[in-house]
Amino acid sequence: MKLKRIGILTGGGDCPGLNAVIRSIAKPAMSYYNATVIGILDGYEGLVEGRHRELTPSDVLGIINQGGTILGTSNKGDPFHFPMGERNNIRIVDASQQVVDHYRNLKLDALVTIGGDGTQIIAHKLAEMGLNVMGVPKTIDNDLEATEVTFGHDSARAVATEAIDRLQTTASAHHRVMVMETMGRYAGWIALGSGLAGGADIILIPEIPFSWDAIFEAVLKRSKGAKFSIVCVAEGAKPSGGEVSVREFDKKRTDPVRLGGIGELVAKRIEDETGLETRVTVLGHVQRGGSPTPFDRILATRFGTVALQAMSNGEFDVMTSLRQNTVITVPLIDAIGRQRLIPPDSQLIFAAKAVGTCLGD
Ligand code: F6P
Repeated sequence: MKLKRIGILTGGGDCPGLNAVIRSIAKPAMSYYNATVIGILDGYEGLVEGRHRELTPSDVLGIINQGGTILGTSNKGDPFHFPMGERNNIRIVDASQQVVDHYRNLKLDALVTIGGDGTQIIAHKLAEMGLNVMGVPKTIDNDLEATEVTFGHDSARAVATEAIDRLQTTASAHHRVMVMETMGRYAGWIALGSGLAGGADIILIPEIPFSWDAIFEAVLKRSKGAKFSIVCVAEGAKPSGGEVSVREFDKKRTDPVRLGGIGELVAKRIEDETGLETRVTVLGHVQRGGSPTPFDRILATRFGTVALQAMSNGEFDVMTSLRQNTVITVPLIDAIGRQRLIPPDSQLIFAAKAVGTCLGD
């Protein structure tokens, strides 16, 4: 297929590696296919509102190591659930026809949608409306079922691991309990990965609802030996029989739930119940910022180059995916709406328990 004009957008929360994908599509598209690459600004929001700019070779020079996205992104621009109006007077409308109109006006042959599950669900709906879409999966959460790993995750896990290393020295100096809350939504990949790598004593993940008593027992035991404890808790973790901690509901988003607060709750309960001095660190968006790791740069580049090759073969309504260390494409319909959680028989869980980590069960 002749690819003359390619649109690219980055949707949802940013993560390290987005610029590496943009570069790996734009560079060969411009140099080998002589194509025009249109950067859509601020995700689907820009496509609804008609905000875009043509990328030049210099736009994609030296960006493989840059975090964020040169195109901007938004998690409030779902064209099928589009917020219009001001602060206290928000109406949700279907603006999908505007997207189709802008795609046609821009004379795009294809649209690359770099984003997580929400972005790819929208991409598939747009494919059903006749657009040639190509999905590229990203998220620090690593919770997309159709790919063994998403880029961005390794970088976030590295940040969280370094944070545990730093917390450990101060925890040890003051004989304290340090609770660290990671992101990850309903999946515990960041918490379990960084907790394992950083040697956390207790790791709480959404996949294993925890018992308060198991936590109290573990920190009390540690207080008699090592005299400090590191508790790594995923934002989606919850006590057995309890609910997740919600920070905010934002109706402008397709998924209005913003998780957060479990770290503070765990720290407070530990201090109240055991009398051990406890501090809490909420890592937050630090996990999404900064330079991608080499793993993420390489995976992002592989995803981008395979996406371009597949588009040139006329393959659309698909998403790139890593399977057994090979990047392939899978139909979007098979990839979306399925969360990849940590399975109970995961070797990560086995390894954590084998080295004496308390998982709260
Ligand atoms: O999906 C990525 C993620 O960073 C989650 O881990 C987190 O729950 C959420 O996005 C935070 O979203 P926001 O940037 O809107 O606060």
